[in-house]
Amino acid sequence: MLLRIAAILTLLVSGTPAAHAQKGGPDRPWWKSAIVYQIYPRSFKDSDGDGIGDLKGIISRLDYIKSLGVTAVWLNPIYSSPNDDNGYDVSDYRNIMKDFGSMEDFDALLKGLHTRGIKLVMDLVVNHSSDEHVWFRQSRSARNNPYRNYYHWWNAENGRPPYRYSLFDINHDAWMYDSLTNAYYLHYFSRKQPDLNWENPQLRKEVYDIMRFWADKGIDGFRLDAFQFAAKDTTFPAFPKGFEKNFTLFYAMQGNLHGYLQEMNRDVLRKYDVMSVAEGAGNSFEDAHNLVDADRMELNMAYPFDGVDIPKLNGYSLLHFKEVFSRWDSAFEENGWLSVFLANHDQARMVSRFGNDHPAFRQLSSKMLSTFIMTMRGTPYYYYGDELGMTNAGLDKIEDYKDVATLNEYRHLHNSGKDVKEFMKSARFGARDNGRTPFQWDATPQAGFTSGTPWIKVNPNYITINAAAQENDPNSCLNYFRRLVSLRKDNPILVFGKYTLLDRRNPNAYAYTRTLDNKKILVLLNFTNKPAIPNTGIHLNKAKLLLCNYPTSIHTSTLRPYEAAIYELP
Ligand code: NOJ
Repeated sequence: MLLRIAAILTLLVSGTPAAHAQKGGPDRPWWKSAIVYQIYPRSFKDSDGDGIGDLKGIISRLDYIKSLGVTAVWLNPIYSSPNDDNGYDVSDYRNIMKDFGSMEDFDALLKGLHTRGIKLVMDLVVNHSSDEHVWFRQSRSARNNPYRNYYHWWNAENGRPPYRYSLFDINHDAWMYDSLTNAYYLHYFSRKQPDLNWENPQLRKEVYDIMRFWADKGIDGFRLDAFQFAAKDTTFPAFPKGFEKNFTLFYAMQGNLHGYLQEMNRDVLRKYDVMSVAEGAGNSFEDAHNLVDADRMELNMAYPFDGVDIPKLNGYSLLHFKEVFSRWDSAFEENGWLSVFLANHDQARMVSRFGNDHPAFRQLSSKMLSTFIMTMRGTPYYYYGDELGMTNAGLDKIEDYKDVATLNEYRHLHNSGKDVKEFMKSARFGARDNGRTPFQWDATPQAGFTSGTPWIKVNPNYITINAAAQENDPNSCLNYFRRLVSLRKDNPILVFGKYTLLDRRNPNAYAYTRTLDNKKILVLLNFTNKPAIPNTGIHLNKAKLLLCNYPTSIHTSTLRPYEAAIYELP
């Protein structure tokens, strides 16, 4: 605690940009009240007809983004990349991917966002680079090359390296043999994503230089991709038999990870008014706190996966959902700060996984889920297209999938003689490409996303589910989302207020209050397609309805299918 107070005092008196970052008071920096809209640039808007979304496309839709009311945009990687993993394999960290445009386009985008009062958070992908990055090309060229130690190599004369699991490799083997120097290199993701060696101070310095390059341009934050895996025990001890694939347990939060983050904070983060969010949150609350508690001067915000991991092909239990989100909230009641989200580019669509994408319930359940995200404590991250209630793509053929993770897993199963039918079923439900189809702008061909052939199929339901149609409908998901956003912006209680779960054991309805000073808000959510009655013990007769996802409110405690209602209590 003492340390925490000391850190805060230092920030207050220092007059550095980090002190400026505390606008709104030391406990209320801007990123806590931010509403983050995540854009997958490949799929947002194509400006030149090549079928791939680009920066000029985003620029052409800045007024739309502004109209949502969101206060920050997180862009998935836009750096030069051969696109083995759609930009998560960076070949030049200081350049823009050709498909996406140029640095001039980037500058114009940043300016356009800032002029509209919207901040920009960039993905920082430095657990690994592309194998086409000049560092790796140098590194693999000779054992005595100065860049050799930018990556992890295991010389083959020492025998095979201890097994390491790779998430995307066709054989799930993270060591790739390279005959050029008779050695294996490490890649936790695809073969084209060799892991960088964070134990090398020279590499760390390069990364901090890159971060300064972008921070000097004026960006407002970094999302640290897969960073919990960056530090390694470079003796590569064997893992206990049977546990080699326990990825988070054995691969996350290793070695001197916290030391590197403290160094990054000291050398870069605290010198700018930038926020930082970790992808993942380790294995425990302790890990998560160690990443983001303010007195540690590492990162700002945890981004735990437990929530998005809940839905399975055969459904999920609301009791489990409530338990997970309540547990994370309580763990961060005092220190640290959380991200709240139900979707991102690594998940299928929110309404198809957590709600009900049947036409009868799609809009209601999608609005209900949005209500949840916008009324929880923490910083909401909202994925592009969810404001329209976009659904899973329904891709049936493996040829329709583009994602390295899905394609390599399919090949892996196929090569090992396994039945791929089950896999295709699960891909239809949960594959990442479901959440990567083009934004549905209007009912013109290709949903108004491109004049060419889109890189991935447009969801055929764009004829009815699209922004243009929803724009003119006051009851659309889109307009409901806008109302939610302004409600959150007008009510700091929804950002900072204490969260209290009510009627914990109710398997159908989720009820909670948010309390700040002498104000109280009640949120009621029906997660089913039948009426549900939350037993909150609160009388609604004097409550003021702030928002409801049905066009007419009935002001009773019986919730209609997928009803969401937000009340201010007297
Ligand atoms: C996490 C990213 O969110 C995901 O899309 C990517 O494939 C891996 N990290 C590897 O960078």
